[in-house]
Amino acid sequence: MSKIKQVEMYAKEKLLTETAAHDFPHSYRVMKIAKYIGEQLNAQLEVIMVAALTHDIIDKKVSLDVKDSKKKLHKKLISLGFDLQTIKHVFDIIENMSYSSGRIPSTIEGKIVQDADRLEAIGAISIARAFAYGGKMNRLIHDEQDKNSGIQHFYDKLLLLKDQMNTEIGKKIAMKRHEFMENYLKQFFVEWNLEDIG
Ligand code: NI
Repeated sequence: MSKIKQVEMYAKEKLLTETAAHDFPHSYRVMKIAKYIGEQLNAQLEVIMVAALTHDIIDKKVSLDVKDSKKKLHKKLISLGFDLQTIKHVFDIIENMSYSSGRIPSTIEGKIVQDADRLEAIGAISIARAFAYGGKMNRLIHDEQDKNSGIQHFYDKLLLLKDQMNTEIGKKIAMKRHEFMENYLKQFFVEWNLEDIG
């Protein structure tokens, strides 16, 4: 079995209990999107794929003990035979790519994985992820007085992402997904306000 396949299995195992936005299918899609962009930009695909598959394992939204999760991941990657330079690069990416960190990874590989992860927060799947995560956090779908509602999350984060893409390819994919989200919100408010009734 290839090393990447084994990283995939490790990620799957670690994300098994995730039922909201950070499940394994999310990490798998981030890997596929990042690989696609990485191929066009001649980037190091191995680093990209490992970082994409493992990025949420060490996120505080998923891990109860981030330090321990990092230690275990590091050990796992060494046991699979990745060289130290690759592992260092992977960690540099996954520790600096989250939206909440406000940082941009320094290498092209990091910028690509960050774009791929952000593309998962724009579009049809992002809508499902936003409300699934909101439900997990006991948040309301919509309430004009509530700054933590699912709908508010679109205005606080999701609609801003298209202008924060690092790569041109990412930006292009983001535009289409963004447009879908805007149409979704239009229809949401039509139904919320019962404008299509009577
Ligand atoms: Ni993610």
